Amino acid sequence: METKIFQAEQLDYAAKLLRDGELVAFPTETVYGLGADALLPESVKRVFQVKGRPSDNPLIVHVADFEMTKVFVDNYHPLTEKIIQHFWPGPLTLIFPIKKNSLSPVVTGGLSTAAFRMPDNKITIELIRKTAAPLVGPSANTSGKPSPTTAAHVYHDLKGKIAGILDDGATQIGVESTVLDLSGDEPVILRPGAVTKEKLEEVLQVEVFLDKHLVKESESPKAPGMKYKHYAPDTPVVMVRDEDWDQAVEWAEQKYKRVALLAGPSITEKYQAADYYIFADDSIESATRGLYSGLRSLDEAGRSDVILAQVFRENELGAAYMNRLKKAAAQKYFKKN
Ligand code: TXA
Ligand code: MG
Repeated sequence: METKIFQAEQLDYAAKLLRDGELVAFPTETVYGLGADALLPESVKRVFQVKGRPSDNPLIVHVADFEMTKVFVDNYHPLTEKIIQHFWPGPLTLIFPIKKNSLSPVVTGGLSTAAFRMPDNKITIELIRKTAAPLVGPSANTSGKPSPTTAAHVYHDLKGKIAGILDDGATQIGVESTVLDLSGDEPVILRPGAVTKEKLEEVLQVEVFLDKHLVKESESPKAPGMKYKHYAPDTPVVMVRDEDWDQAVEWAEQKYKRVALLAGPSITEKYQAADYYIFADDSIESATRGLYSGLRSLDEAGRSDVILAQVFRENELGAAYMNRLKKAAAQKYFKKN
């Protein structure tokens, strides 16, 4: 199958493909999603096949507005309205209990809850409206690869396997949405993202909890997707704390020969390396935006035997960045002797 690249002017055609049961990748503010009509179970099944994704890992249902969730949900957490008002559209996925049989078990993994999100991207909202159905959308990468932040990443992983990709340039945030479980009494973050614990608590004026696995490595996560090995490049990644860079570069050159650096300009300008991916500036926002793209390009270039990556403090957006980086690095930090 030929995978077509669509621009915003071709939304009608992309929506028709989705209605006909085809798969079309779409942009969001976080990462690109692999779209299928959420009401067509056969199409949703193909999403799993194309990605090589385990079928017990439920999908996010992308909606064009809050109204669209009401077909599936009738029992909302009391904080829902306030959350929606502040954070939708945006990088926040909400888990609600659903009406029985309102969504196919292919979408929900057979759970009695489902994940909903209204992405902050105008052409994708238009695409959902024109399709006249919500769209499932896991990240549009092959399972095990970093999530795609450009249409070119999607094309690299899925060309020939999907009908099209709606191109809207590079994504703003760079890592997947926060997943907030609103199916119990207390709001619980299952996956950290750009809507942070700190921001949620400031707006809601209640404590927001972290799923057990985010606090303690040995606990199993409630979001099924968080248990899989994700975002792992073939080249080993080692995390380096700010004060350790001199020694880490020296150690890596001895042990691996060709060293790549993934860090902001104030770090990379100090060292000679075989390869670089330099974040646009030294902020956590730029690091988060560049993380997956950097891992992909350093890994695929094949010009290095190890990637040394910058560490940030694990609060606010740093919690999301570090959650993804630690997985890519299999938890490995450079340690001084
Ligand atoms: O930013 C994003 O969220 C992107 C863009 C494309 O919207 N999508 C994305 O989808 O990251 P995916 O499928 O890679 O991640 C969905 C996460 C998984 O960890 C999944 O296990 C969890 O949400 N999830 C889905 N339904 C759930 C449910 N009912 N209960 C708990 N976790 C659920
Ligand atoms: Mg994913």
